[in-house]
Amino acid sequence: MGSRTPEIRHIPVLRDEIVTLLEPAKNGIIVDCTLGFGGHTRAVLERYPNAKVVAIDQDPAALEIAKDRLIDLSKGITFIHSNFSDIKTVLSELEIFGAEGIIADLGVSSMQLDSEERGFSFRFDAPLDMRMDFSADVPTAADLLANLEETEIANLIYKYGEERHSRKIARRIVREREAGRPMKTTKQLAELVARAVPRRKHQSIDPATKTFQALRIKVNNELDILERFLIDSSNLLVAGGVLAVITFHSLEDRIVKNTFQRLAGKCICPPKIPVCACGAKKTIDLINRKPIAPTEAEQLENPRSRSAKLRAVTKLEN
Ligand SMILES: C[S@@+](CC[C@H](N)C(=O)[O-])C[C@H]1O[C@@H](n2cnc3c(N)ncnc32)[C@H](O)[C@@H]1O
Ligand SMILES: [Zn+2]
Repeated sequence: MGSRTPEIRHIPVLRDEIVTLLEPAKNGIIVDCTLGFGGHTRAVLERYPNAKVVAIDQDPAALEIAKDRLIDLSKGITFIHSNFSDIKTVLSELEIFGAEGIIADLGVSSMQLDSEERGFSFRFDAPLDMRMDFSADVPTAADLLANLEETEIANLIYKYGEERHSRKIARRIVREREAGRPMKTTKQLAELVARAVPRRKHQSIDPATKTFQALRIKVNNELDILERFLIDSSNLLVAGGVLAVITFHSLEDRIVKNTFQRLAGKCICPPKIPVCACGAKKTIDLINRKPIAPTEAEQLENPRSRSAKLRAVTKLEN
């Protein structure tokens, strides 16, 4: 897998902003939870050569490529194939009990999107797979569409794709399946969605975009693991340590924003309750109240950065 991935120019999103935020971690341990192409890890180690990076990715192909690309910096990096939802275990197995910096640049990488064989993109005809960790024994997108009930398919496309036409799409998927034509390839699904969703004039995004996003989120369980990961990460930070997270859509950003607010002590009890019962406790400070967005220049240079939002927090003394 990954062998036919094209070599593309890689620009890590919000690189300079991430490097600046990680200044307090310059002599410590930095966990890059989403190594990808290794762009952030490279930028951080080039600026802070005394830092040690634990570099995690769940995609075995990404790890192989990043190891190669970072060969000149490999003394400072420990590469780990894992899901970042296991960050606690990963660090304790390395006998690391606190980190000065933790970064996560969420979602799918351009390498995954531009791969012709992994099924993330409808630009290439490929099996409907979408597992970031293709070594894991978890259902692929095709498996989900073959086995879920029609309402479950509709709900997932609505919830994770914010697709208004989710019911129509689900109905067609199930009709095709019942006629002995289950969804097996990206092209098949993209064409089905195009038939189900009326295309508006001047619409810039492909009608299949939302359905593909929804399936990818579901296959990789992207939203369900996020809150726990943020809480675990904040617990792993040493006082003064920094956690920085880049999201690419509003569903992710909402979880990051709400979880950070809660860790910053915001009470979420119903308004009329006389005494706080939600256990609100302040363990972090928000570094930025509003998310940091890429500059216009970055957005022009790298259109995929357009939807990026960066939120960061710093750990307080216990
Ligand atoms: C947007 S890319 C990161 C790009 C990277 N920051 C760079 O500069 O090259 C996201 C990467 O995170 C990985 N990833 C996404 N969710 C993950 C998870 N839950 N655990 C581990 N890796 C994950 C993906 O496989 C992908 O390689
Ligand atoms: Zn409360």
